[in-house]
Amino acid sequence: MAPSEPIYLDNHATTRVDPRVVEAMLPWFTEAYGNAGSVGHAYGHAAREAVEQARETIAGAIGARPGEIVFTSGATESNNLAIRGVAERPRRRGDHLVSVVTEHAAVLEPLERLARGTHRLSLLSVEPHTSSQAGVVDPQQAAETIDSDTCLVSVMLANNEIGVIQPLAPLASAAHAVGALLHTDATQAVGKLPIDVEALGVDLMSFSAHKLYGPKGVGALYVRGRDPIVRLAPLVVGGGQERGRRSGTHNVPGIVGFARAVELCTQTLEEERRHLRTLRDRLLAGLVAQIPDLRMCGPDPATTARLEGNLNVWIPQVDGETIMLAAPQVAMSSGAACSSADPEPSHVLRALGLSADEARCTLRLGVGRFNTMAQIEQAIEAIGDAVHRLRKG
Ligand SMILES: Cc1ncc(COP(=O)(O)O)c(C=O)c1O
Repeated sequence: MAPSEPIYLDNHATTRVDPRVVEAMLPWFTEAYGNAGSVGHAYGHAAREAVEQARETIAGAIGARPGEIVFTSGATESNNLAIRGVAERPRRRGDHLVSVVTEHAAVLEPLERLARGTHRLSLLSVEPHTSSQAGVVDPQQAAETIDSDTCLVSVMLANNEIGVIQPLAPLASAAHAVGALLHTDATQAVGKLPIDVEALGVDLMSFSAHKLYGPKGVGALYVRGRDPIVRLAPLVVGGGQERGRRSGTHNVPGIVGFARAVELCTQTLEEERRHLRTLRDRLLAGLVAQIPDLRMCGPDPATTARLEGNLNVWIPQVDGETIMLAAPQVAMSSGAACSSADPEPSHVLRALGLSADEARCTLRLGVGRFNTMAQIEQAIEAIGDAVHRLRKG
């Protein structure tokens, strides 16, 4: 990175593609450019083999079997396929959907759309910001809400704004006790936490390459293939790719890059978690030293219920957007970048009990693989200076 480029601390929005991922992808654009659906020649065979190899790598990394991975264009599509695929499948059971107020829009919107038509939707609340477990769902409340009419429970594994990690196992038990399925949006968790779909007890899991140092525009949905077999109504029909679950020509370079990115994350998972925790903890300590009235949003970082790379802070009386303008040398976010077209304060922070004005006075800082301690020190100084200038002025 050139010295004049801003320090990138927006790794929840997207991540830089790892150069090793780019290297793995390149031949699939220029040399081996066949369509994985072309069965009659070597170009097609090579592409098909690459897609199947990638499927195996990705399945292996999350404790799944290759046939349980459906490639999509990203987590938004995976979430839509999971939710609408269950709700709209023939012979579905029940019309009750259960989720959480702090989910990503790519989960909430398809749920709300169904709730305006054929389904009933219950949204669970989360622990308030005064709690050390801020943002965590209460499994007891979930168990009381899930009923014999529930067909799907959708709870994200790790939150994209406050990094809270949800306890999925008790939610899986409550869902399965009534014959409902559990979907998780694990977009911020895969590649960042050890993941085993069996241990989590999930039936459907969405994730995306660009959050784990892979390319944009490719993702996957894990669809349980046994005990029970989960059947989905497809969203996209046509050529019958992905065993009819998602038609459309495979994005071969993207899928190859996705698998390489997952492989790299798996190889260095614990080392990287330690690196991110060290940087994140220093960032927090440095900001607190500069801005003593700064408060954390979300769970206490000392607990295991928070992503190592995540920080979200509330700086009383200073608007997050204004800090971003005053500290352009740091690329950060004042809410979820995915919903930055929406001027409303973050629904996640509001769900923790922050007022609209308080929620506007926040910064989300996402530390990633390519950040260094020197960058963290510069970011502390830049944000601290900006806040002091704004408070004086
Ligand atoms: C939790 C979560 N779910 C879903 C998405 C959407 O992912 P994609 O950009 O792959 O569609 C995002 C990304 O912004 C996210 O953070």
